[in-house]
Amino acid sequence: MLSKLRSLFGNVSVSGKGMDGKLRIGILLSGKGSNLLALVNEILLEKNYPAKIVCVITDNINESKEVLDIVSNRLNIHTYSIDYYKCNSKEHFFAEIQQLLIKNDVEFICLAGFMRLLPKSFLKAWSINGSDRCLATRRNWLFASSIINIHPSLLPLFPGLHAPKRALDSGVKFTGCTIHFVNEGMDTGIIIAQGIVPIKKRDTEATLIERIQKAEHYYYKQVIRLIAEDKILFSDTGKAILEDNLIHSFNIVYPNKITQLDMEI
Ligand code: GRF
Repeated sequence: MLSKLRSLFGNVSVSGKGMDGKLRIGILLSGKGSNLLALVNEILLEKNYPAKIVCVITDNINESKEVLDIVSNRLNIHTYSIDYYKCNSKEHFFAEIQQLLIKNDVEFICLAGFMRLLPKSFLKAWSINGSDRCLATRRNWLFASSIINIHPSLLPLFPGLHAPKRALDSGVKFTGCTIHFVNEGMDTGIIIAQGIVPIKKRDTEATLIERIQKAEHYYYKQVIRLIAEDKILFSDTGKAILEDNLIHSFNIVYPNKITQLDMEI
């Protein structure tokens, strides 16, 4: 069994970008999928968006059913549900996911509210050093994997569950969202970009989550665009860096909008 799994994980196909030159993305989620929908909307609105979603996999069909119906019926994206508790083991569960990703020629994985830590074997198959995938040929990518995640706090603060509530309870004045490469830890991978969300005096957990999600929806599509356009670079110490013009579009334009919308308490 183990050797079968190993060969499965080791056998990631090297598809390169598809005929249309777009990065082929697989989404893993466990929730309602508002980030997925925001991304789908962007892809629909912008014909030249450099990535496309080729499959979506949930481990919680009860929560994700509505969004999966939308993306499969209206957009023809392949969707799948895998019940963790019907799999013999965690390895089996991730082997099933891996099979689907390979079947759909996925090149890059975006976690969007996926509630499980990824096992070593899976991470290895999607790591730049561990496989021969197209992103591995890119300059500067030695530090990264082909998997990113979005988290609702300014990491390294508040990793794990209930991040907005913990930020609110702690008394910090700003929180936000972080997009990072995925490693074995809980929300500990290399940070790519962060969006700042001020905490208002009258915020409740629900109002704060709502504003953090707005930021998430904005930033995730931008970061995926930068990845697909190969615009993420790394410093010698392995930190992700964006060029100045990109930093401006991340850190100035959107916080200005936040200032207008949210700072007037
Ligand atoms: C997001 O807040 C994301 O940061 C976290 O899970 C949530 C998923 O929300 N990892 P949705 O399912 O995209 O609405």
